[in-house]
Amino acid sequence: MPWRPLLVALLALSSCKRGEEPAPRSWDLDQAYCGAVDTHAVEERIDGLLDQLTLEEKTRMMRGDGLAAEDGIWRASGIEEHGIPGILSIDGPRGVSQGAGHATAFPVASMRGATWDPELEREVGRAIGAEVRAVGANTLLAPTINIGMHPRWGRAQEAYGEDPLHVGDFGVAFIEGAQEHVLATAKHFAANNIEDTRFDVDAIVDERTLREIYLPQFERAATEAQVASVMSAYNQVNGDYASQNPHLLDEILRQEWGWSGFVMSDWIFGTHETVPAIEAGLDLDMPTEKIYGAPLAQAVTDGLVDEALVDRSVRRLLRAQFCHELDVDPPVVDPSILESQAHLDLARRVAERGMVLLKNPTDLLPIDRDAAPEIVVIGRLAEEDNIGDRGSSSVDPSDVVSAWEGLSAAAAPAPITRIAGDLTDPQDRTAVTQADVVIAVVGLSASDEGEGMIGAGDRTSLEIPAADQTLLVEAGALTDSLVVVLEGSSAMTMPWLDQADALLMAFYPGSRGGDAIANTLFGEVNPSGRLPMVFPVAEADLPPFDNTSLSVEYSDAHGYRHLEREGIEPLFPMGFGLAYTTFTLANAAAVSSSVDRGDVVRITVDATNTGDRTGRVTVQVYAAAPDSPERRYLSELRAYTQVELDAAQTTAITLEIPVSDLARYDVTEQGWRVESGTHSFFVGQHHGDPAARRVDVEVRGD
Ligand code: BGC
Repeated sequence: MPWRPLLVALLALSSCKRGEEPAPRSWDLDQAYCGAVDTHAVEERIDGLLDQLTLEEKTRMMRGDGLAAEDGIWRASGIEEHGIPGILSIDGPRGVSQGAGHATAFPVASMRGATWDPELEREVGRAIGAEVRAVGANTLLAPTINIGMHPRWGRAQEAYGEDPLHVGDFGVAFIEGAQEHVLATAKHFAANNIEDTRFDVDAIVDERTLREIYLPQFERAATEAQVASVMSAYNQVNGDYASQNPHLLDEILRQEWGWSGFVMSDWIFGTHETVPAIEAGLDLDMPTEKIYGAPLAQAVTDGLVDEALVDRSVRRLLRAQFCHELDVDPPVVDPSILESQAHLDLARRVAERGMVLLKNPTDLLPIDRDAAPEIVVIGRLAEEDNIGDRGSSSVDPSDVVSAWEGLSAAAAPAPITRIAGDLTDPQDRTAVTQADVVIAVVGLSASDEGEGMIGAGDRTSLEIPAADQTLLVEAGALTDSLVVVLEGSSAMTMPWLDQADALLMAFYPGSRGGDAIANTLFGEVNPSGRLPMVFPVAEADLPPFDNTSLSVEYSDAHGYRHLEREGIEPLFPMGFGLAYTTFTLANAAAVSSSVDRGDVVRITVDATNTGDRTGRVTVQVYAAAPDSPERRYLSELRAYTQVELDAAQTTAITLEIPVSDLARYDVTEQGWRVESGTHSFFVGQHHGDPAARRVDVEVRGD
């Protein structure tokens, strides 16, 4: 028997008291899911309710109440007379969805991933959770923890980045923060990485790739963060729709991971057939009656579905509500929480921390305002409220600080002017030529990328719009002081890069994005963001992105893993980012050069700020497995940490990597196996860092 299922079975047995019959669903009795609430009391209460509820009442709880959200809130019935509220859910990943009125628009998840600071993400989760609760909902339809498999994916902005460890850290932190207030939902389970064909595409993923790349962050959401609910994806995975996929929903999520929460479907097109769905373990059909409710009751009456399966799902739905005490402590509507000063400040702070400085060879940045340089701002997006997709993740803040508003408010004593449109007018060309600094705000917007059907869908290419490229080339010919502020979800190609004398990746920076841009360009903030995905030179450097076929074979390597394996140099590597200071790493060493399966690899390194201002360094460790036929990636992110250093300060940093994290999925054994031999750890400031220090550790694995 593979060791994981064996472990689950042993744990299940050990939870029974001696002499008692094993509980029928012993893996359901998981105290971790219930937190401080006594799980036995919860299960007993559910037993009592299940005895009283009719089939009609039970199946009604298993479907949403209707196609239309009320004030942005989707409802699924509870049991009113017992004070059980039901699941009142609302999007989403960057703040309370627009249907509920004004709310804080946080920077998109890809920008939050660029902070490389999960503790900051915990604060974001907490703030969004508080706003969700303050509109009267009890369930947040976030986080999106799908992997950014390819930057053309329309929802790449909702994802934290391309690496499972990094995405998992952010997902866990967000969930734990949000669940201080409401239930969180990890979505979309699983292999949901293409938008235009999302309702039907069959993601063909080999088991090892599925386990190593597309599932680890969901496992951590379930087992580490005890996420209350999981949303199944629209797409198929290896031939079965995700909402009726027994391998995903039953074998992995429930049996292997031992998770006790409920699975809801994705909206409208996310459910298909009653019997396979309930057998696989889908608990809630959203947002309206399609396969559950009356069709499910009928299937039970016709003898097609065992009523015990209905009870199993109702139990999971009730458990989530009781464990999170939704019946005793329901949400209270409180408009003062929405867009509170604290949340707006947090949105700005996160945007400041997520800005990634990609190029600054002549120290054009930061701009010294006190020297009163003449500043000209060009670019289509400068005056836009460019906060991301208009799909389900859309937020409607009452006020957005655009780049122009932020820059013009902060520039004094430097004179600043705006040139809207192109540079055909000779007067505008003269202004650009004479300016000391020209700031161009360009890139992508909601008309280029977003959720399918309700947003722009997948990107058609990795380039920014042609008009923006022309503007950069024209401006670049007129000035040697062109600062490009690039907005968008993730990687873009940059045939115009030579024109930029400085380049700042600003993503979609949220309600206070313009302030964050200004504070970064004027040096109030020393940029510390690092790319959470690789930027390739050309789209052809990545595995192909197929958003038209209905069956798509997933590559076993994507992003930086693919580039490294193929020996292709990126434009900007995974984890890359500059600052207004520089850092060096020295004396990297392993505390122990030989470790066992149950140990932790500890790596120490001295980080020094070699510049003249305080800054934040992110130390990253990419590990390579022994050079055996089993190996398929050269190196993968295994640890990172961040520390703020004063000018000239040196500090010793320790990074920890549990040996179990080095395991790979063994398809034959159906379990995780750590390979014995020499594992190499590259300690640097980004993936492929030429200055990285290599530390070899002898691992005695399985
Ligand atoms: C999206 C989900 C979202 C749901 C409800 C779907 O189209 O894929 O992410 O939570 O709509 O708005």
